[in-house]
Amino acid sequence: MFVVTGATGHLGRLVLDALLETVPADRIAAVARDGRKAAPLAARGVEVRVADYDRPETLGGVFGAGDRVLLISGSEVGRRGPQHAAVVDAAAAAGVALLAYTSVLGGPDADFSLADEHRATERMILESGLPYVFLRNGWYHENYTGHLAPVLEHGAVLGAAGDGRVASAARADYAAAAAAVLTGTGHEGRAYELSGDTAWSLPEYAAEVARQSGREIVYADVPPERYAAVLASAGLGAAHVAALVDAEDAVRRGRLARTTGDLARLIGRPTTPLADAVAVALKG
Ligand SMILES: NC(=O)c1ccc[n+]([C@@H]2O[C@H](COP(=O)([O-])OP(=O)(O)OC[C@H]3O[C@@H](n4cnc5c(N)ncnc54)[C@H](OP(=O)(O)O)[C@@H]3O)[C@@H](O)[C@H]2O)c1
Repeated sequence: MFVVTGATGHLGRLVLDALLETVPADRIAAVARDGRKAAPLAARGVEVRVADYDRPETLGGVFGAGDRVLLISGSEVGRRGPQHAAVVDAAAAAGVALLAYTSVLGGPDADFSLADEHRATERMILESGLPYVFLRNGWYHENYTGHLAPVLEHGAVLGAAGDGRVASAARADYAAAAAAVLTGTGHEGRAYELSGDTAWSLPEYAAEVARQSGREIVYADVPPERYAAVLASAGLGAAHVAALVDAEDAVRRGRLARTTGDLARLIGRPTTPLADAVAVALKG
């Protein structure tokens, strides 16, 4: 079986879409913590296995010997260490044939706080002895294009990354790569540095939104403290704010700018241009 955790999330749903293009539904299992949220996947013939990373006892029957598993990293920053450990333990106990993990661009060299749990998870997987693939994902276009409403409202992209560049790609590109690795051969023991073909800066992003929307949009670069205050005023918790401000600093330092070509090679086509993601987001 091909087994995908986090299957009800944004990336997980796209991985399922990609898998269903080439694999019969009865060979795919979706792991979700909320069975009701997974009902649309069940309706497509995918087996739904309900489990919560926070409750290791629920992970016992989720994997089988010979399964090819994609562990999609959890979304609760600060809790992902024990959560991922529980999944790795369950996969090892079951004897899965492959554990692919959505890590972060740079892997062991990624020096920003959002990467801490990814580095720890890669180490856990290596120590488990399981056959593995690391999918070291760069930023999604949607991290930016998913927040166009305030940009259009204020006529400004707000950031603290200066001229730092981001080699982002569409979530669907990363999903296609994950599906290719799960269903393909020759990937065992590989670490792919996945990013978009082209790196862009926030001033360039603002210019693209301006061009496509026909409005005046500028890039407003602010000090980290001001950026943090704006995020906090939007209702984000302190830990989340700190992680995003630190990530902005990583962008400023060029840590998310690497263009390796690994993603385009895995998916067999160029990655989705940022302009296409802007167009999709503007259509709403
Ligand atoms: N590369 C990037 O730019 C970027 C950006 C943001 C996040 N990420 C990372 O990539 C992951 C996937 O991205 P995404 O956009 O798909 O995020 P997402 O939509 O938040 O999906 C996270 C998935 O993890 C599941 N999950 C969270 N906690 C869980 C738990 N305790 N037990 C079982 N499942 C749990 C969620 O379940 P529910 O559906 O029930 O909520 C959801 O399906 C994120 O979780 C995060 O680690 C990467």
